Amino acid sequence: MTRFALKDLIDDRPEDGVFRINRAMFRDEELFNLEMRHIFEGGWVFVGLATQAENPHDYFTTFIGRVPVIVSRDGEGTLRCFVNACPHKGVRLVQKPCGSARMHVCPYHSWTFDSAGANRNIKWQKRGCYGAGFDQENHDLAAVAQFGEYRGFLFASLNADVPSLEDYLGEARALLDLVADKSPEGVELVPGRVRFTYRANWKMQLENCSDQYHFTSTHPSYIRILEQRAKEKSDDVVEASLGASDFWQEGAKGVTGGTFSFDHGHVLNWGAMGVSAASPDFERAEEIAGRLGEPRRNWIFNMRNLTIFPNLQIADNASSQMRVIRPLGPNLTEMQTWCIAPRGESAEARRFRIRQYEDFFNPTGMATPDDTVCYEEAQTGMAEQERGWLQGHARGFTATQDGGNPFSDMLGMTPARNVVADAQLCDESLFQSYYKAWAERMAEVVQ
Ligand code: FES
Ligand SMILES: [Fe+2]
Repeated sequence: MTRFALKDLIDDRPEDGVFRINRAMFRDEELFNLEMRHIFEGGWVFVGLATQAENPHDYFTTFIGRVPVIVSRDGEGTLRCFVNACPHKGVRLVQKPCGSARMHVCPYHSWTFDSAGANRNIKWQKRGCYGAGFDQENHDLAAVAQFGEYRGFLFASLNADVPSLEDYLGEARALLDLVADKSPEGVELVPGRVRFTYRANWKMQLENCSDQYHFTSTHPSYIRILEQRAKEKSDDVVEASLGASDFWQEGAKGVTGGTFSFDHGHVLNWGAMGVSAASPDFERAEEIAGRLGEPRRNWIFNMRNLTIFPNLQIADNASSQMRVIRPLGPNLTEMQTWCIAPRGESAEARRFRIRQYEDFFNPTGMATPDDTVCYEEAQTGMAEQERGWLQGHARGFTATQDGGNPFSDMLGMTPARNVVADAQLCDESLFQSYYKAWAERMAEVVQ
């Protein structure tokens, strides 16, 4: 148990129209350690894409909370996930972010493991004068308790006592389908990983991905450049577009987007976009409609920011980004980001996707630095002790409805809650899903 009571951290009183989060959630060291143990190391987290270890003996390394892990495709082609620590003295076995190796040799005393995690050599074992107890011990790498794949997205849990991956992802699976279904061959990462840290709590990133409210305030320079580019285009160049009029249901005119919230903390915020050449997926528009039907095709062309709690975010708009959040401390977070793209797209579409990616998503682009500066400024402001409660989780409270709407029906998906929005609603009530999931995972220690 901690010195905190849940009611002092999350003020959830729907009957009074109140949902508030205490600043302590963003800065407290004890809470951070409990989050690592009970959220990141206590349940499902995203570890990577199956295509990151495509061929036998390919591997990549990452972390589940504080624990280093290796995802390796063994010689038979089966993906496995191990704790990336040598059983001898606990040294991290593999240091590289990715590669291909039939054998992994520990840098400290050369114990050797194959790509299936089996110990294949203990240096000078015969001369080691080991007792019978040592011989009876298992010297292989420790497999994580749970490891699963959904449409090429790999998840793992250090805790065996978790729902099935299918149940954990729940209805939000339909949104991963939209990413995977862009190509019949699935998706891949464009070579080139970006890794950076920001000096603020991991939940700043968690919220920002689904924060529509900040966009016009935080990114005016990006918006001005887009406006300028549009002006420079000659009037007679009309961007190719297929239109998407039947995307809209009767009575939904004026809807510019909305949000969906799911069990276990997953959320989506979305904006209606036409099926136009402004998207690098346009070359596939007809093919996708033929394969999946028009409603799903039109959904693929919508702006979508998806969070799979607690550490995976996929942003799909002018380009497409996969983000993985790794908390390092209450005031420090590591982000790893990639451009995620349909396999088999033309060189021209790929080039367009990467150029638009650089524009907006890269740390050198016109959006990410704006956001991370705001996270760090927020962290500075969170030092205030007198007034604990933040006021950033209340917008959209009265617009929230249980279940789905015609837009989720198009995907055959039933979220727990939804908001249908006009341009200025900018729902913040979807953040509540994060904190409901937070409370569930921390229930043992914060009550
Ligand atoms: S720690 Fe790995 S061989 Fe000693
Ligand atoms: Fe932003």
